[in-house]
Amino acid sequence: MSKKRVLTGVTTTGIPHLGNYVGAIRPAIRAARQENTESYLFLADYHGIIKCHDPKLIHESTQAVAATWLACGLDPERTTFYRQSDIPEILELNWILTCITAKGLMNRAHAYKAAVQDNLDKGQEDQDHQIEMGLYSYPILMTADILMFKANDVPVGRDQIQHVEMARDIAGRFNHRFKELFVLPEAKIDEGVEILVGLDGRKMSKSYGNTIPLFESEKKLQKSVNKIVTNLKEPGEPKQPDESPLFEIYKAFSTAQETAEFTQMLADGLAWGEAKKLLGAKLNAELAPQRERYETLMANPADIEDILQAGAHKARAEARVLLDQVREAVGISRLK
Ligand code: TYM
Repeated sequence: MSKKRVLTGVTTTGIPHLGNYVGAIRPAIRAARQENTESYLFLADYHGIIKCHDPKLIHESTQAVAATWLACGLDPERTTFYRQSDIPEILELNWILTCITAKGLMNRAHAYKAAVQDNLDKGQEDQDHQIEMGLYSYPILMTADILMFKANDVPVGRDQIQHVEMARDIAGRFNHRFKELFVLPEAKIDEGVEILVGLDGRKMSKSYGNTIPLFESEKKLQKSVNKIVTNLKEPGEPKQPDESPLFEIYKAFSTAQETAEFTQMLADGLAWGEAKKLLGAKLNAELAPQRERYETLMANPADIEDILQAGAHKARAEARVLLDQVREAVGISRLK
């Protein structure tokens, strides 16, 4: 039986946060440990430069995202672990896929639509004001990432489902028009995990600056948790899970039984302050050992680089084979 392929990436625009961890990093590493899987986990730095125009931040974030993957248990012996920009074949594939992607499909992408809506809300006459092509065609680059390594399963948070569906669509179009070369990928969502909400009540996101970073010190972590919004209900008053985003975070780090107990405690009037202490302790229990590894890795960037270069070597050799087939299928090959 052929092995199942798992692939996912994290954009290098900031320090990884709890949402990245529960949405993608943790499920991807669990999947990578299964006997019957081959895994491809990477740093999406070409995606990073779409929204972030600060070179220093992109560079520092690349180190932080790589250290996070490794600290969370990625085993580079089992997983092909690489930086997107070290695999130029992905960009070649990106162009070929761009040539067959319907513009209408890109018009429907959430990130582009949100940027258009933002312009309209601001009364801009040009709905595309300041929207760059990187943002517009972002899902095609993500498609190239996924198709390049024939991924079956793509563990992502719910905000990325649309992009994986687009990858499937584009793969189907290529297969139909030229040759059955691409595997149709599927988004894998951790059922117990919702999109985590950040400190300002919007989706927790590196680009909103509202995150709880994964590996801050225990003290800082508790401080961040204390900032999560709640309502004004007093200790002793019954509380519902949907009254504060802290519940979904608690749930993402707990078993079903622990979540049920927490729900009951809130219903019994647990004070928000106490709930935050319980959440801080829960997060720390899971993250503390990984935090220690993260700090060691962050102090040794050359070691990380060696691992990434070895991963790129493996990944490129494989990418080249598929890319040659793709080029041939569209009519690009040497004259004989
Ligand atoms: P990025 O860097 O925005 O996020 C990385 C992963 O974290 C998930 N995530 C969340 N999950 C739950 N709650 C949140 N608040 C939250 N915020 C982020 C995301 O769903 C994602 O799975 N385009 C991708 C990176 C990428 C990629 C790929 C992923 C590039 N190429 C190929 C899979 C396959 C992105 O921007 O992720």
